[in-house]
Amino acid sequence: MAFTHSILLLFSMVALFYLISITTAQVEPTTAPPTAAPTSRNGDDMEVIKDVKNNRDIQELGMFAIDKANLRNSSWWSISFIEVINATRWHKMKGFRYLLDINSTKKSKLEVQVIGSTFAYLYVDSGERTLQTWFFKAA
Ligand SMILES: *[C@@H]1O[C@H](CO)[C@@H](O)[C@H](O)[C@H]1NC(C)=O
Ligand SMILES: *[C@@H]1O[C@H](CO)[C@@H](O)[C@H](O)[C@H]1NC(C)=O
Ligand SMILES: *[C@@H]1O[C@H](CO)[C@@H](O)[C@H](O)[C@H]1NC(C)=O
Repeated sequence: MAFTHSILLLFSMVALFYLISITTAQVEPTTAPPTAAPTSRNGDDMEVIKDVKNNRDIQELGMFAIDKANLRNSSWWSISFIEVINATRWHKMKGFRYLLDINSTKKSKLEVQVIGSTFAYLYVDSGERTLQTWFFKAA
């Protein structure tokens, strides 16, 4: 009897630890980066990309950002890409840093779907793309 009890206790402790670890691992970044690009020191290296809606490269970069965001911590929610609506870029090291405002929907495991913006910061250097940070803001 005591043996069965300790097995049960051990089992529930393992289950509890598992629950705690998945719960804490699914949290989005808490410190949201600013939604506007920083003002550059000399003021002329900031480029607001025009006609973003018809810019295939930017739309593609936005899809990439959403794919990457979904790969990280995606068990609780998923984001669906709609369209990049705004894009800014500036020189950073040997490449460019981009800030994209991506019209998108976020759906949680509880099936609540909200529309809003995914603000994504990416670094692009000779075709190599990296999603650095991002956050979703409901409209
Ligand atoms: C995923 O969750 C971990 C733990 O909370 C956190 O450190 C990390 O920044 C998260 N990553 C993303 C992309 O949300
Ligand atoms: C895009 O960003 C620029 C610069 O921050 C801002 O002036 C403009 O209103 C934004 N456009 C949209 C559609 O959000
Ligand atoms: C985002 O997409 C939805 C669906 O196409 C549209 O109704 C909405 O106006 C868009 N929002 C912005 C800010 O473009």
